[in-house]
Amino acid sequence: MPLVTTKKMFEAAYQGGYAIGAFNVNNMEIIQGIVQAATKLNAPLILQVSAGARKYANHTYLTKLVEAAVAEAGLPIALHLDHGPDFETCKSCIDGGFTSVMIDGSHLPFEENVALTKEVVDYAHSKGVTVEGELGQLAGIEDDVNVSEEDASFTKPEEVEEFVSRTGVDSLAIAIGTSHGAYKFKPGQKPELRFDILEEIERILPGFPIVLHGASSVVPEFVEQINKFGGDLPDAIGIPEEMLRKAAGMAVCKINIDSDLRLAMTAAVRKHMAENPGHFDPRQYLAPARDAIEGMVAHKIETVLGCAGKA
Ligand code: G3H
Ligand code: 13P
Ligand code: ZN
Repeated sequence: MPLVTTKKMFEAAYQGGYAIGAFNVNNMEIIQGIVQAATKLNAPLILQVSAGARKYANHTYLTKLVEAAVAEAGLPIALHLDHGPDFETCKSCIDGGFTSVMIDGSHLPFEENVALTKEVVDYAHSKGVTVEGELGQLAGIEDDVNVSEEDASFTKPEEVEEFVSRTGVDSLAIAIGTSHGAYKFKPGQKPELRFDILEEIERILPGFPIVLHGASSVVPEFVEQINKFGGDLPDAIGIPEEMLRKAAGMAVCKINIDSDLRLAMTAAVRKHMAENPGHFDPRQYLAPARDAIEGMVAHKIETVLGCAGKA
């Protein structure tokens, strides 16, 4: 089966009350771990590549690795650009084999976000590629995504209909209290998501696929393991999994997960090296790291996304 767009995946997910996992990929072991889990559980999959990942691993290397995964797995897999920063990056991914792109104009004034997103949609649709836009701004810091708490803002439901109809986007990322990275809430703060905003958007745009970024749960077991083996991650707090499962049963059709993979992988490497200080063959620590990614993705598919058996 060749790479697919997100269109049919999202239609089925919306109808079925589940979500597709969009997992960030940066190297071979991450791709293999994710795809092994999805294959065992017969789950549809989105592999997403950020601008930072393209810079790190190179576009051709990543697309060829994904091509290999598609040939091995025989699953419906979409290859998606995560947080496309501008038209040129989106165009380069569309021309270079991606089946879906995100154009992230969420930091722009509404009219500029509409204009940029529409430019990408017009080009993408002419090539059969689906597009995700974003309204509202998540807080958090990663390589190429850096928004302070003061600049973060919830999505305004009154803007979504006009944005979707004027741009023609195929899905919409919204801000309802999730954030990027491992520090999503302050110590002592009760994790909360604005389900009222999600409900309102669902009412205004019935049947339209919604995307949640910043949706890692920062699984405590892995944070503890990193800290136990010499790491220092104070007060890392994520989104409770039951909240994500609830969102997946609503209009949310795509849930983005990166930090949980990073934590699982790093915890496995730290544990392995602490227990085997003499090891220096990268395969010795990358194999358990790959297994940790597989375990994390299987856990997400079964407990958060609900997409097992839906491929
Ligand atoms: O939301 C952003 C993703 O987690 C990718 O992060 O830009 O550090 O690759 P990155
Ligand atoms: P996390 O940092 O919560 O994993 O979010 C990832 C993400 O939104 C990628 O676009
Ligand atoms: Zn994101």
